[in-house]
Amino acid sequence: MATINRAAVFPGPGEKLEVKDVGVNHPAPGEALIRNHAVALQPLDAKMLVAGYGPAASLQYPAVLGTSGAGIIEELGEGVSQFQVGDRVVFDTKAYVDSEKNAKQGTWQQLVICETSAIAKIGDVAFEQAVLVDFPLQTAVAALHVFLGMEVPGSGEKKEKVLIWGAGGAVGSYAVQYAKHVGYTVVVTASPRDIERQKRLGASQVIDYRSADVVEDLRKSGPYKYMFTASGDADSQKALSTLLPDGGRFASVLPRGIELPPYIEVVYTAFSQAAQKEEYSDWRKWWYQKYLPEVLVEGILEPVKFTKIDGGLAALQQANQDVFDGKVRGKLLINPQE
Ligand SMILES: NC(=O)c1ccc[n+]([C@@H]2O[C@H](COP(=O)([O-])OP(=O)(O)OC[C@H]3O[C@@H](n4cnc5c(N)ncnc54)[C@H](OP(=O)(O)O)[C@@H]3O)[C@@H](O)[C@H]2O)c1
Repeated sequence: MATINRAAVFPGPGEKLEVKDVGVNHPAPGEALIRNHAVALQPLDAKMLVAGYGPAASLQYPAVLGTSGAGIIEELGEGVSQFQVGDRVVFDTKAYVDSEKNAKQGTWQQLVICETSAIAKIGDVAFEQAVLVDFPLQTAVAALHVFLGMEVPGSGEKKEKVLIWGAGGAVGSYAVQYAKHVGYTVVVTASPRDIERQKRLGASQVIDYRSADVVEDLRKSGPYKYMFTASGDADSQKALSTLLPDGGRFASVLPRGIELPPYIEVVYTAFSQAAQKEEYSDWRKWWYQKYLPEVLVEGILEPVKFTKIDGGLAALQQANQDVFDGKVRGKLLINPQE
């Protein structure tokens, strides 16, 4: 049985991470203890660490950041029959939605407690690949499927169109692929250097979001059954609302950033945390037991590019600063066991 568990402890807003031994926790009924081998840095984590953003305000300190990981089940609580010790898994925790659980479930540590309802088996898929896909794909699918009502793969209409704004990032790249798999014609905005990859992911048309004609070009290519801004910035929200002169809605990864007409609904929530809430338990089951394992094991989606940073938990402070400062393209990964 494990006796050492090191974590990158966040002492409090404005302070720096401290890597230290925090003791080993053991799983309660319905939980698993997972040896965490891969963590992908998300903009949310970086904003919480560097700027005290969003959920940072409701954490109890000292806290452990990170809500996703990939690794091997080391111990199981009572009553768990669907997993075995030794299973290779990807998982998400309640670290940001339940402050009481944060210390045990924050994933910037070597041994993480996780509720088994939020664990997916990954077979032989590399931990890095699994963790690269889970959080941003989950965000995209929650936004499109759970909150906008887009169907499941194979049931969309090719003659209808979906608009993904800011498709260059991880959430955007997976949103394009999901919408394409559902069966829609996908129009995206992205940087010109990304055109070839966007076409490979499933975009039928790629428009430069910095172009002066972007809204006019999008209007000519519309209308759109679903619209999603995966960059969430104010310019994107303004552009999408301009495409809805008679009213309507679009989803955004960030909250409303500008004043918009009252007939425009911006669908925003913590999409990445939705599966942790009981009201979405049906979706959670589909996600962890069916869709996510299928996507990973069958290699259905092209993962985003990543850079593995050496140094384990001790590398997190600087790496998050780099993400926060916008110096990183693709995702940064660390291995907490190093
Ligand atoms: N609400 C939620 O649940 C939720 C969940 C996950 C993420 N988010 C938020 O969603 C955003 C994206 O996350 P991510 O993981 O996809 O980030 P990411 O992978 O780091 O994506 C960054 C990329 O997005 C593109 N981009 C940046 N600013 C843009 C802009 N103003 N307009 C269009 N494209 C832009 C850039 O690509 P190019 O230079 O190639 O265009 C950039 O490299 C972050 O702000 C994050 O906090 C929210």
